[in-house]
Amino acid sequence: PVRSAFVVVSNRLPVDRVTEPDGSVRWRTSPGGLVTAMEPVVRDLGCVWVGWPGSIDEELEPFAVGAMRLRPVALSAKDFAEYYEGCSNDTFWPLYHDVISPPGYHREWWDRYVAVNRRFAEAAAEAAEPGATVWVHDYQLQLVPAMLRELRPDLVIAFFLHIPFPAHGLFGQLPWRRQVLEGIIGADVVGFQRVADAANFRSAVRRYVGAPSNGNRILVGDAPDGSGGPERHVLAQEFPISIDAAEFAALAASESVQRRAREIRAELGDPKRVILGVDRLDYTKGIRHRLKAFSELLQDGEIDPAEVTLVQVASPSRERVEAYQHLRDEIEVTVGRINGDFGTIGHSPVVYLHRGYPREEMAALYLAADVLAVTALRDGMNLVAKEYAACRFDERGALVLSEFAGAADELRRAVLVNPHDINGLKAGIGAALRMPEAEQRQRMRAMRKVVFRNDVARWSSDFLRSVEGAAAQRILAE
Ligand code: G6P
Repeated sequence: PVRSAFVVVSNRLPVDRVTEPDGSVRWRTSPGGLVTAMEPVVRDLGCVWVGWPGSIDEELEPFAVGAMRLRPVALSAKDFAEYYEGCSNDTFWPLYHDVISPPGYHREWWDRYVAVNRRFAEAAAEAAEPGATVWVHDYQLQLVPAMLRELRPDLVIAFFLHIPFPAHGLFGQLPWRRQVLEGIIGADVVGFQRVADAANFRSAVRRYVGAPSNGNRILVGDAPDGSGGPERHVLAQEFPISIDAAEFAALAASESVQRRAREIRAELGDPKRVILGVDRLDYTKGIRHRLKAFSELLQDGEIDPAEVTLVQVASPSRERVEAYQHLRDEIEVTVGRINGDFGTIGHSPVVYLHRGYPREEMAALYLAADVLAVTALRDGMNLVAKEYAACRFDERGALVLSEFAGAADELRRAVLVNPHDINGLKAGIGAALRMPEAEQRQRMRAMRKVVFRNDVARWSSDFLRSVEGAAAQRILAE
């Protein structure tokens, strides 16, 4: 069996198994910020990564990618429907993103969530050497820390939530709120994106589990010696995630990417200004609000459709979940309407691309864009904003950034907007389009400084240092 002193557990493995129509199989980098961030962290570690390979009803043997060994956990069609699409992405995802879409609370989904979490916990327990550190990720696996502690009390357990943790007024809706909190505090260290997420979590634990906190430490249980102290501490604190900034910068500096950036501008018909949006096609990303603001700017005559092009990359995501299907329909109707109203033969103001792109193409798009618009209604971090800053070695370009994305805590020199306020959003996009070069330079320089200082290596070393600290304290206590 594959075993390691360091085990990563997430719903998705960093690569997805894709079966082509001709029956051949290939591996593709998985979508989303979790993999973008974790991939460089674990690339060189000899760890085992436990997760789902993206296929259904397929028992796969462990395999290796570089120094990393992958231990697949199989999902059946029912697991996929009830644990992944249901409880993870139709209950927790909308609830934790401030109920932008109404969460469904279904007992059979929850039962399946518990059962699948147990399977992940068992796989992780098998993969962990004695005294190993196990790092569990995200909302799909919130019960794994406590299950794992029960199976393997010798382990050091860490949990990181990549998405927001809601205020208790919303979290309290969850019929299984106590079980979820007890699941998470099975970990020794719990990491969040923002200060507010960690505070929301500690207050939910106080309210629904009855465990108080002292600063960032949650005091769990009662010490067996009757001293009146807690049985153990759980550190619950913010660790804002990031990217491998140097890697993006090097990519952007390469001759081929720069050539491609010029080509993209030419293919777009050399517009005066290019606005870029890059998102998974998800209702949390505020793509509708962005399109609304853009179409009103065209309508008001503030933007000349012959001069400004909006390129919207929307990568397909969770396509069988109803809310995602509705969103796709709505966005595609809106794009069609804007292009119908403001386009000409040979030119459409919105270029809409429903697919994902490799990193090189993304870097070229970032370089080709005068403005990157990140208008999420709620977002744990938003790494696209950080990628844009990392790529702009020329210190040009303007970032329009939603206050509701975690990145807004760090990228204070972006043009910060409230995407619900369409007038404010229009003003923000307008200001970004008109921003003088000197101001672009000043702001971009400040944002790049933050992204390079707080890169993903710093994130993981800060987090893992806290985990080591927790491990050392445990040894002292024993
Ligand atoms: C977000 C989540 C990840 C998830 C990713 C892609 O980044 O935080 O946990 O893996 O989206 O979503 P998917 O449902 O395709 O895994």
